[in-house]
Amino acid sequence: MALIKKEVVDQIILQADIVEVVGDFVSLKKKGQNLWACCPFHHEKSPSFSVAPNKGIYKCFGCGKAGNAVQFIMDVEGTSYVEALKYLAKKYSIDIEEDQSPAAVQAQNERDSLYILSDFAKKYYVNALHKNDEGQSIGAPYFKQRGLSAATIQKFELGYSLDSWDDFTKAALEKGFLLKYLEETGLTIVKQEEGKQYDRFRGRVMFPIQNVSGRTIGFGARTLKTNDKKSPKYVNSPESPIYHKSDVLYGMFQAKQSIRQEDNCYLVEGYLDVLSLHQGGIENVVASSGTSLTENQIKLIGRYTKNITVLYDGDPAGIKASLRGIDLILEGGLNVNVVLFPDGDDPDSYIRKVGDTAFKAYLGEHSQDFISFKSELFAQEAKDNPVKKAEAIREMVVSIAKIPDAIKRSVFLKQCSIQFGIDEQVLISEYNKIHLTEQKNARSQPSQGNSYGNSPASYAPGSFEEMAAEAEAAAAAAAEAAMYEEEDQQEADQSNLLRTREREVIRWILNFADNQIEEGVTTSQFILGELEDVEFRTPIYARLQKLCLKKLEQGFLPTAAEMMQDEDQEIVKEVIDLVSEKYELSEGWAKHEIIVPRESDLIQYGSEREVLRLKWRNVQFLIDTERNKLREMTDFQELTSVMRKIKALQDLEKQITDLLGIVVSR
Ligand code: UTP
Ligand code: MN
Repeated sequence: MALIKKEVVDQIILQADIVEVVGDFVSLKKKGQNLWACCPFHHEKSPSFSVAPNKGIYKCFGCGKAGNAVQFIMDVEGTSYVEALKYLAKKYSIDIEEDQSPAAVQAQNERDSLYILSDFAKKYYVNALHKNDEGQSIGAPYFKQRGLSAATIQKFELGYSLDSWDDFTKAALEKGFLLKYLEETGLTIVKQEEGKQYDRFRGRVMFPIQNVSGRTIGFGARTLKTNDKKSPKYVNSPESPIYHKSDVLYGMFQAKQSIRQEDNCYLVEGYLDVLSLHQGGIENVVASSGTSLTENQIKLIGRYTKNITVLYDGDPAGIKASLRGIDLILEGGLNVNVVLFPDGDDPDSYIRKVGDTAFKAYLGEHSQDFISFKSELFAQEAKDNPVKKAEAIREMVVSIAKIPDAIKRSVFLKQCSIQFGIDEQVLISEYNKIHLTEQKNARSQPSQGNSYGNSPASYAPGSFEEMAAEAEAAAAAAAEAAMYEEEDQQEADQSNLLRTREREVIRWILNFADNQIEEGVTTSQFILGELEDVEFRTPIYARLQKLCLKKLEQGFLPTAAEMMQDEDQEIVKEVIDLVSEKYELSEGWAKHEIIVPRESDLIQYGSEREVLRLKWRNVQFLIDTERNKLREMTDFQELTSVMRKIKALQDLEKQITDLLGIVVSR
């Protein structure tokens, strides 16, 4: 994206009139020096949102949002700074001289032509509905029969296309629109070989589709012949340079303000669902319009709210569609609730059946988070069938695994365990399995320093026994993490934390020096190998690390007995301390009411996690060290080099925490 010149930015900011800019979104009322409105950013009944024209700023005394015209557009449209500037430049016809290459100019001109043509078409269909006899005698009664009010028809600029072969095409050509654009928008279908051209939309009620800024980009058109099996119920505009179906949600332009205020977006399937709900006072509603929900559509909603409530038919197709949607929404990092309607009803038919008030009450009562929704769905099937039940649980956990946020994930795992009456640990192990498989797939080339590279291939889905062992080990690790978490909270001091981790690692080495972690590899070898390039910071543990390595080199295992041979009394004393603190592994598990898995699994898991935890603290220590350096630095080159180092360390930290993240801490 080309940068906007500084002078141009200044000009935009100078010319943007805060009252005009804000006035496009809310209706402002003058009271004294300032203007007031109900805040577009939070829900309120009396206005606490003010605009100060002399200062060029807005401020809400309710929610605290404030800024200039650019900030307002960023907030209200959920755009970036540059996009907000572009929006304002357009509004004030300021030339931002973005990309002026002939090709770019031509593409822009072409898009503009398509927008203008689509707008013409929209007006043409609106006019046909209201001013044409056929529109009045056929189109209007249909809308009436569907219960749509004049206000709704006007707000959504609904129209009617005459039942004629080329009435629209003729009118557009007469107006001077090029056939090329008529074809590109799909408004006209051109049959080259027959030398014929005709209107795509004929004898249908028209639903113009708008982008978020309210420009018409395409149409949906419903037939009026309910029993005609030959023609499809809906005909839609094809993809075009201005209409990308997967990026568009029907009704977004009319809904966005309400979505932001309600902090929730209802998602329905059809045009008529949007219209009926809107008319019933539920304005925060959009439709995916027949296509299945896409990632970009979820991102679009995400600009205005993080909460989506899916309203689908209760029939098997609707349920299936909602299940697909749920996972995609979760993956997008948004929260999802579901409302199902009685079989045979969609939101449109249901609101017309029961009325606005009862409909809203129904939404309130039947809105379920996705865990309850899914578990209820599977409950019947799974009731007396353990295989089905296992499948159902897996289904749930697969969904949970899609949530990018670790805290949310763990909350849902807990909830899921309550709902299904299943030990949370079982779910955590199931989750770990899914997560590890995904990680493994994502990691085509294992990076160095990745402790899982060395471990046996127990994470690939294998025999049942393997899986069971894994699950047990994962459960153990989860409990262990919980124990460590408690411990960590008690130690606030950073270097203390590092010291503790180093101590623990050495203790594992000494305690399990001769324990075979896998064929031919002992725990001590494994840990020391993993930590070869990690510098220990606590002098005594640094010395112990070196000493253990030396023993290995000499062909001895660094057992406590072996280490106690050392002449250095400080070393001997520390070793005694470390091994005499009896390492009661099972105590912790018992405390957390978890079945103790096989000891070997536990040691393997424990070692891997100890290694990761030390690496993690070590990276944090290094980041802090680099950060401290930054303070005294003045030389630009040095500064950037340190910044780069910090960035690299942070990436490393992320890798480690991701690996540690396989266990959900509670
Ligand atoms: P529905 O069949 O539920 O349509 O399809 P609807 O909007 O509720 O219409 P009524 O109530 O029968 O009049 C849901 C959505 O799927 C798309 C449309 O976007 C529709 O709104 N669809 C459906 C098509 O694009 N083509 C079709 O043939 C059918
Ligand atoms: Mn319907």
